Amino acid sequence: MEQSSAEVLLLGWYEPALTALTELGAHVVNVLDPRDLHKARALEPSDAVRFLTVPDTRSSEEVVSGLARHGLTLSAFSHVCSMRELSVVTAAVLAAVGGCASLDVPTAIAVRDKFVQKQLVRAAGVPVTACRVVDLLTDLTVDGWDRPVVVKPLAGGGSRDTHVLADPQSLARLLAEAPEPPRGPWLVEDFVAGTELHVDGVVRAGRVQWFAVSRYLTNVIDIKAGVPVGSVVLEPAGHPGLYAATEALLQESLDALGHREGIFHLEMFERDGALTFSECAGRVGGAMIRESIRYRFGVDLPGEWARAALGLPMAPVPADRPEVCGWMQFSAPAGRVVEVPDVAAVLAQPGCVEAIVSLTKGATVPDISAASNLKAGSALVVGDTEEQVQARMLALSDWFARSVTTEAEPCRPS
Ligand SMILES: Nc1ncnc2c1ncn2[C@@H]1O[C@H](COP(=O)(O)OP(=O)(O)O)[C@@H](O)[C@H]1O
Ligand SMILES: [Mg+2]
Repeated sequence: MEQSSAEVLLLGWYEPALTALTELGAHVVNVLDPRDLHKARALEPSDAVRFLTVPDTRSSEEVVSGLARHGLTLSAFSHVCSMRELSVVTAAVLAAVGGCASLDVPTAIAVRDKFVQKQLVRAAGVPVTACRVVDLLTDLTVDGWDRPVVVKPLAGGGSRDTHVLADPQSLARLLAEAPEPPRGPWLVEDFVAGTELHVDGVVRAGRVQWFAVSRYLTNVIDIKAGVPVGSVVLEPAGHPGLYAATEALLQESLDALGHREGIFHLEMFERDGALTFSECAGRVGGAMIRESIRYRFGVDLPGEWARAALGLPMAPVPADRPEVCGWMQFSAPAGRVVEVPDVAAVLAQPGCVEAIVSLTKGATVPDISAASNLKAGSALVVGDTEEQVQARMLALSDWFARSVTTEAEPCRPS
């Protein structure tokens, strides 16, 4: 296997990225938020990795100051990178300052800022949601209201603070609940009807090398109604038209974003066979997308991210496994956890091949309607057909929620 001699500055905790870099021979200084330090300390110590903490890995000031406290400057590194969505631009800026290899700054912005991204993709002729930016929520008025819109942060994630405003009354409710001091600016998009798909894959030398299309069980925004997130990988052989249309949209979109070397996680809507671009990130998808792609196709997305970051060639794509595969997150009744199934009990359910249980006894069940990365657990489920996998996932979701018992939280003194 080709090896790297890179000296890498890695921003943020994402263990598969760190492992992939060191397996390829890189030496890594991994800058962490303190809340992730216990995970780093649980790893086997390695001469190839050094951890240092800063209050916020998204801040270039904090990162360069943290390096200085350890006697380091950016000139110590050949590469700067991050697999954490919120540190991607910081990594690119620091690399530009230090003369290190990285995503270039315009591309990093293009895979992060939802307005810049949609402008670029629209200019390339790809169908994309109409959108505009407002400084404050109060700049949204009901005058001339003629269609539902979606309001969201410009560079957020996990559907956090994302609101569908179906009518002027929903805007009034949102304004009434908006926190002070005001936050912003906000992206305001036309609401797109259709089912939501995600596309995960590898781009090298500006050409799409490999990708897979998956269909969310329900659109991610439905977490607001308490529906957990999940998706089923769509079989390439069973959806030739969709795969061909997706490849065209992907290539045009990635060209427009200037994303030539790396991996991508793109979301799009499909309605009556027509695709509309929704957004594209330059990192691995969240939840168990990485696991579902690895299980079904043998493609290691964090490994491909690291190979692209280090300038090494893509690994050969192995023979795939002829099993339909999907992943899903669990929810549980609100309250403090009294009983929760263990991983072995989840794995004993039909089709379940990997499971994570995030709840522990005594913990508080997270409110999954706040963001799509909050969950009680998650699982990878396989079967013979997409319908069977989906049915198994829904049954597993019901079983998990019924198997967790909770009690009311004791009142906290105010
Ligand atoms: N214009 C839109 N029309 C319909 N649904 C949308 C629109 N924008 C976002 N959504 C829904 O909100 C979810 C979160 O928005 P998204 O733009 O993907 O931001 P992020 O995933 O970064 O939080 C999407 O997955 C989708 O379900
Ligand atoms: Mg999204």
